[in-house]
Amino acid sequence: MAILETFLPHGRLRDGNLALRILATNPPDPDKNYVATYRFGMFLDGRRRAVGGIELRLGDQQDLTRFAGQVGYAVHSDHQGQGLAGRSLRLLLPLARKHGFQELWITCDPDNLASRRSCERAGAVLQEIVDLPETHEMYARGSRQKCRYRIELRNVPASLAPVCSLSQSQVRRFRLR
Ligand SMILES: CC(C)(COP(=O)(O)OP(=O)(O)OC[C@H]1O[C@@H](n2cnc3c(N)ncnc32)[C@H](O)[C@@H]1OP(=O)(O)O)[C@@H](O)C(=O)NCCC(=O)NCCS
Repeated sequence: MAILETFLPHGRLRDGNLALRILATNPPDPDKNYVATYRFGMFLDGRRRAVGGIELRLGDQQDLTRFAGQVGYAVHSDHQGQGLAGRSLRLLLPLARKHGFQELWITCDPDNLASRRSCERAGAVLQEIVDLPETHEMYARGSRQKCRYRIELRNVPASLAPVCSLSQSQVRRFRLR
């Protein structure tokens, strides 16, 4: 049974020169159909401002696993090309495991090759490409299909290192698709 409404200590999330630091924990908002979501900034050593963002959405309903995805990420154009999205995604897997997820679904448009490769770099495997319903809000924004990538979590350890801290001046928001 997944823990979907409680935020857990996320531990120290670091890979080499990349650290994920928490920007916000957004509680669920049933009126808007929003699930509880962790929002992290991607920080590179020596830089005060986030160079990207990644969020983990604590839900397993069909709209998330099929169309929107349980993870969203974006990297500022100045810092693309360093594999930061794939590395950040990999860093989040123990937290998802700790929440009880046995798998994670990440989706992207078929022509978003950078996102597809980021998924693969993090160990996700393409399961299928599905059509978006015409009534879906992402269809209205121009998407027609979604690649569904699955990451198997059962062998990912849920053990996490101590929490890292973030000063508010370091927070910078990113729009995640
Ligand atoms: C998707 C995104 C987060 C990836 O950023 P990133 O981590 O800097 O990714 P990189 O530029 O390092 O590219 C990752 C991989 O994709 C490959 N790639 C990037 N652009 C590519 C392209 N146009 N064609 C083919 N491969 C491409 C890179 O070569 C790299 O592959 P490698 O790991 O084998 O070397 C970034 O492009 C972005 O912010 N896009 C806009 C928001 C978005 O689309 N978010 C995802 C929504 S599902």
